Amino acid sequence: MNPELIAEKLTTKDIGRSIVYLKETDSTNLHAGRMFKNGELRHGIVIIAGSQSAGRGRMGRYWYSNGGLAMTVVVEIPEKVDNLAPITLTAGAATAVAISELTGKKFDLKYPNDIMHNGKKLGGILSELKIDKNRFVLLGIGINVEQESFPDEIAGIAVSLRQAGLKVAVEDVASAILNQLEPMLDTFMANGFAHIRRYWLEVNCTIGKKITVTQPSGLIKGKAINIDDEGALILETENGTQKALSGDFTVEK
Ligand code: BTN
Repeated sequence: MNPELIAEKLTTKDIGRSIVYLKETDSTNLHAGRMFKNGELRHGIVIIAGSQSAGRGRMGRYWYSNGGLAMTVVVEIPEKVDNLAPITLTAGAATAVAISELTGKKFDLKYPNDIMHNGKKLGGILSELKIDKNRFVLLGIGINVEQESFPDEIAGIAVSLRQAGLKVAVEDVASAILNQLEPMLDTFMANGFAHIRRYWLEVNCTIGKKITVTQPSGLIKGKAINIDDEGALILETENGTQKALSGDFTVEK
């Protein structure tokens, strides 16, 4: 991993113009959290790790990132933005579009933001909010790039670009995502998710499928029929239409 190769291909104004490269760390999101505590976060900083010893996924899960891209993008949220939740969906849409354009192959999004290829997981996004006198979202993006195999526990559900027959450099995956992310984030900040929704819909593989949503309050089962302007998934259930914004989303095969 050579951060200069990322910088060379950037077309952004702010995102990725400052890259913190760590050969080894626990987790790029945890590192960003420590920078936040020290008052060191600025909009656009990207933290990239060569390897993570404690990579974190959604729902408190472990994230395996050896051979993959592990980066956290620091986004400062302007005061006027009040509905922050769909920023993760925006990042998911940008990531899926970027990887599809870079490789010429179809990658799609499972709600809320798993990047999928032929039913297996290529990547995911973990976003965290940090507030002091400013608001920062840490967009932790993990993509499987060069792995030739995965540990047994995830071998059946994970896929890398290499396994999909694509020899792509980690640096090129990073710059493609950052270049796609900045304009989509600008649109989201200015106009909200309503103006990102169509990109999300173009790359999604969730609408039309039977879904189970596991939430602390119980299960919602139904067919995903749409996503609304606030980023909630709309499900047609036995008890009528219901919205789901959070939880663990399982797609029935
Ligand atoms: C998911 O569960 O799908 C989200 C995975 C997010 C993994 C990335 S890798 C870079 C960043 N640092 C972490 O510890 N997690 C995120």
